[in-house]
Amino acid sequence: MALRDRIAAPEKDTEDHDLANIYRERLLEEIDVDELARLSPAQRRVRLERMLSRLLSLDGPILSAQERGALVQRIVDDALGLGVLEPLLADESVTEIMVNGPQDVFVERNGQVQRVPTRFASSEQLYQTIDRIVSSVNRRVDESSPMVDARLPTGERVNVIIPPLALDGPTMTIRRFPTPFRMGELVGKGSLDEQTASLLAACVRARLNVVVSGGTGSGKTTFLNALSGLIPDDERIVTIEDAAELSLQQGHVVRLESRPANVEGRGAVTIRDLVRNALRMRPDRIIVGEVRGGETMDMLQAMNTGHDGSLATVHANSAFDALGRLETLASMSELDLPVTTIRDQINSAIDVVVHLARGVDGSRRVVEVQALVSERRGDYRMSPLAEFVPGPLGPDHTVSGRFVQYGLPDELRERLRRAGETAFVAEDVLG
Ligand SMILES: Nc1ncnc2c1ncn2[C@@H]1O[C@H](COP(=O)(O)OP(=O)(O)OP(=O)(O)O)[C@@H](O)[C@H]1O
Ligand SMILES: [Mg+2]
Repeated sequence: MALRDRIAAPEKDTEDHDLANIYRERLLEEIDVDELARLSPAQRRVRLERMLSRLLSLDGPILSAQERGALVQRIVDDALGLGVLEPLLADESVTEIMVNGPQDVFVERNGQVQRVPTRFASSEQLYQTIDRIVSSVNRRVDESSPMVDARLPTGERVNVIIPPLALDGPTMTIRRFPTPFRMGELVGKGSLDEQTASLLAACVRARLNVVVSGGTGSGKTTFLNALSGLIPDDERIVTIEDAAELSLQQGHVVRLESRPANVEGRGAVTIRDLVRNALRMRPDRIIVGEVRGGETMDMLQAMNTGHDGSLATVHANSAFDALGRLETLASMSELDLPVTTIRDQINSAIDVVVHLARGVDGSRRVVEVQALVSERRGDYRMSPLAEFVPGPLGPDHTVSGRFVQYGLPDELRERLRRAGETAFVAEDVLG
């Protein structure tokens, strides 16, 4: 929506909508929209606030300073951004905003979900906010396409689902991504121990192909991000995701994001398309956020044809199960490959699987690190590198335990040695 239309968009059904609408119009008469468009968002806000305050104090009805402030805030929020949600978005401690219809807004702060007094004046106003968000990323939401995922320019993910699918009105979930954990911080939190972290760092530097596995919400993306942080800064990295979540610190990163089909069912760009495209981009490393289908075959082939040092996550129940999952997913490609061929690809592509789990206390941990040591066409065989051995549950069901390390299989030791990662070569058993 153009800036002018936004400012003009009349409010409906609010107690004092007449007043707000009068001042919207007065504002439009006074401002130079083209000039406003050239200002930064922060400058725009200041400009509009000043102008409105002046108008209100010049000829305004009798409003208290507080009422006047609230009216200015409301008109400016609506004109510039996400209306009543703006103050929540500006609040750094809010990690998630959940709008269940116009009257029910919840936020998450420090892991706690709480209801907030924020209200939309009407369903109409909520729809306007939703429209503004989705149209800014060239998506639309209406009865024929009642669910949509979008990303705000500031990085937050937004999901919208509207009636008739959502029974109690338009529903919107905005997730803010907290600053991602680096590997050192994960060690600090007890998500893995120091030795395992250094071993994985060596594996990444030595260009081993590493898969991160785990269940829903087990911390796969977070861990993948931390692992990616160990890639040397001079490498060209291409990341491929459904919804860009990774945030790499390196200087040479190209981020690709898939796109769903439009309302006419056209224009979809899949993870698979992006993996294939990435191969033509001269990447040193390819990072696939999560493999979910036939692109797994392309990724394995890429890993086997010189794009080693690649990283991906997969949904699985154990490190061993991850291999079976990869096999199933790879068989979903249209290439009708016999299972032995797929197995061959997996055996030669994958070097290490890191499996994560979420504890009953909400903690996330590395619970196994396994090296794949099987012969090319043989059954999968894994050799444990590290493991979390849980102890008895503490008070309030807190999970505790210890990490144990195992000796490196010869082939892995040799690869690390050849890559100059000598720290792991001498010792038989780490720690
Ligand atoms: N090691 C950790 N310690 C504490 N919190 C963590 C840790 N790893 C992840 N989290 C938190 O857990 C939540 C889920 O993490 P993440 O998105 O990485 O998991 P996921 O396995 O990729 O989830 P999904 O299955 O949805 O893709 C996030 O809020 C994240 O900040
Ligand atoms: Mg994830």
